Amino acid sequence: MSENLPFNERYIQPPYKILYRESLENAENFWKGMAKELDWFSPFDKVLDESNAPFYRWFPNGKINIVYNALDRHLKSRKNKVALYWENEKGESRHLTYGELYNEVNRFAKILQDLGIKKGDRVLIYLPLMPELPISMLALARIGAIHSIVFSGFSTQAVIDRINDAKAKLVITTSHTMRRGKRVELKRIIDEAVAQTPSVEKVLVIKRDEEIELNEERDVLYQDLAKKTGYKKVEIEETLSTDPLFILYTSGTTGKPKGILHLHGGYSLWTYLTTKWVFDLKDNDIFFNTADIGWITGHSYIVYGPLQNGASVLMYEGVPDYPNPDRWWELVEKYGVSVFYTSPTAIRSLMKYGADWVKNHDLSTLRILGSVGEPINPEAWRWYFKNIGNSQLPIVDTWWQTETGGIMISATPGLGNYMLKPSANGLPLPGIDADVFTEDGNAAGTREKGYIVIKRPWPGMLAGVWGDPDRYVKTYFSKFKGIYYPGDYAVKDEDGFFYILGRADEVLKIAGHRIGTREIEDILISHPAVAESAVIGVPDPVRGEVAVAAVVLKQGYQPSDELKKSILEYVRNNLGALVVFGGLYFVTKLPKTRSGKIMRRLVRSVIAGQTLGDVSTLEDETSIEELKKVIEEFS
Ligand code: PRX
Repeated sequence: MSENLPFNERYIQPPYKILYRESLENAENFWKGMAKELDWFSPFDKVLDESNAPFYRWFPNGKINIVYNALDRHLKSRKNKVALYWENEKGESRHLTYGELYNEVNRFAKILQDLGIKKGDRVLIYLPLMPELPISMLALARIGAIHSIVFSGFSTQAVIDRINDAKAKLVITTSHTMRRGKRVELKRIIDEAVAQTPSVEKVLVIKRDEEIELNEERDVLYQDLAKKTGYKKVEIEETLSTDPLFILYTSGTTGKPKGILHLHGGYSLWTYLTTKWVFDLKDNDIFFNTADIGWITGHSYIVYGPLQNGASVLMYEGVPDYPNPDRWWELVEKYGVSVFYTSPTAIRSLMKYGADWVKNHDLSTLRILGSVGEPINPEAWRWYFKNIGNSQLPIVDTWWQTETGGIMISATPGLGNYMLKPSANGLPLPGIDADVFTEDGNAAGTREKGYIVIKRPWPGMLAGVWGDPDRYVKTYFSKFKGIYYPGDYAVKDEDGFFYILGRADEVLKIAGHRIGTREIEDILISHPAVAESAVIGVPDPVRGEVAVAAVVLKQGYQPSDELKKSILEYVRNNLGALVVFGGLYFVTKLPKTRSGKIMRRLVRSVIAGQTLGDVSTLEDETSIEELKKVIEEFS
């Protein structure tokens, strides 16, 4: 009988359908009801202040602190429940119950206060996935300070730019992390960086296993202060819903990264709800999210979302294939992981070792799998489904961004919507009014490629770009006036399912890591030998995408393998090892328009071996011929 019903009626069950309809038709009531699931110090005046759109403010005048919802409110019922499990490459482990995490966070908060950190101050965190990372971020949020975490794979220049933009007063770091058995020095990068960041007054250093060399005037050792401070409760700051919680830098189309700003109230609610709706976390679940907390995926779904839901989270400091390619499956078995969230790149990198590495492990505790960061190709999806999901578990392919705060489009097992279609991300979550627009701002037809847009505000949305209100309006609300523009291509099918196809701008996704081509170009041209450069992304079988650069050298420099090596190393040292190159070619000129703009589109076409398209604005055609020749020679 159900065959006669339309697809949505057959497969997508309430409560998703009911909630979705309610969320758009009766939005005020919907959000009011949802917000009641969190604890507020004092109630808000209204749900949404649109008076200064697109600077939307959620739950104005309400007082709420995300840390109260993540920790304090669990003390009664979950004090002895494990909040965080941690393990590293070597198999060393630690765990913290909600009670212990609460104590650690309070002690850390007191140390921060004693160092002079106050509400509204910015503090940069540069730590690997060690327990002190969530502890320090929660401690900062507890006292109303603003954290800005920089992924520990970023290097010196990236750190300098982010500290200076946020004018951070304090930096929190540690000596090192281990990667495939080798030390990665972290404090050394901070030492180099803070020589060029006038706002930084102190560096708080967390000792790992050995003595660390400290700068007596600037560095303070966390362990010394912790011993002195002891465990005392620190009164929680009763922040406004509209007070800043964190800044997280992300790449855009200019060389300067954008400080994406999230606020306590809206972000709390959105991470709380989406964790419940998508991952369906229950009290006995163990959630393993393989992301790094230095990216939004870790902010929202290692720390804030799961902890607000009272869940147990596993964080792993290491790579998936060291010491062996079954490291993650070993962890899933050991901890009885039930919900597992990772990236397509990670799946592809494990696929190449073969499924035998999976077979020796009991993965029967798993019940939901997730994917995030980039489109998942059918081959990787099938491998994940078959080998990790035993051909029966749902894979939630969650589309979202640093800017959206939390998941926007996905299946929602927590709301009874398990419906999956190959390559589709799924349906928009309740409250998300998504659509696909054509270039001229009309709704695209069914399965017509266009730009995904979000037509009304939602609680997790960014509140602004730190220190740059114009950039916020220009980047996100100008392509289609007043409507949020994420910068991704998408199609929508006849059942309303969205398929995200990839970035529509000059932003790369290397192994799911977001990095702007302009940011890479800016570093390249700061190398003493480089005059000009054009960076584009090309498909890569494992990483999804890698960077390729065409480089013009300054007079007096000759192309050589050594110089190439030196330039690549320079990018790694300044921006970070996350920038993986698929090639670097030396040319004497780049294709440009008559007005002098580099035509990346043509560089891309030549490198991909595609037809060039419109070349009417190209100034000098020999630039193309040269590039073709160089590529032929070196490929
Ligand atoms: O292009 C989309 C892609 O990642 C971008 C956002 O990157 P970032 O802010 O670093 O956040 C990544 C983690 C949320 C998007 O604009 N993206 C993210 N998830 C998916 C995706 N593309 C396709 N499918 C996804 N599931």
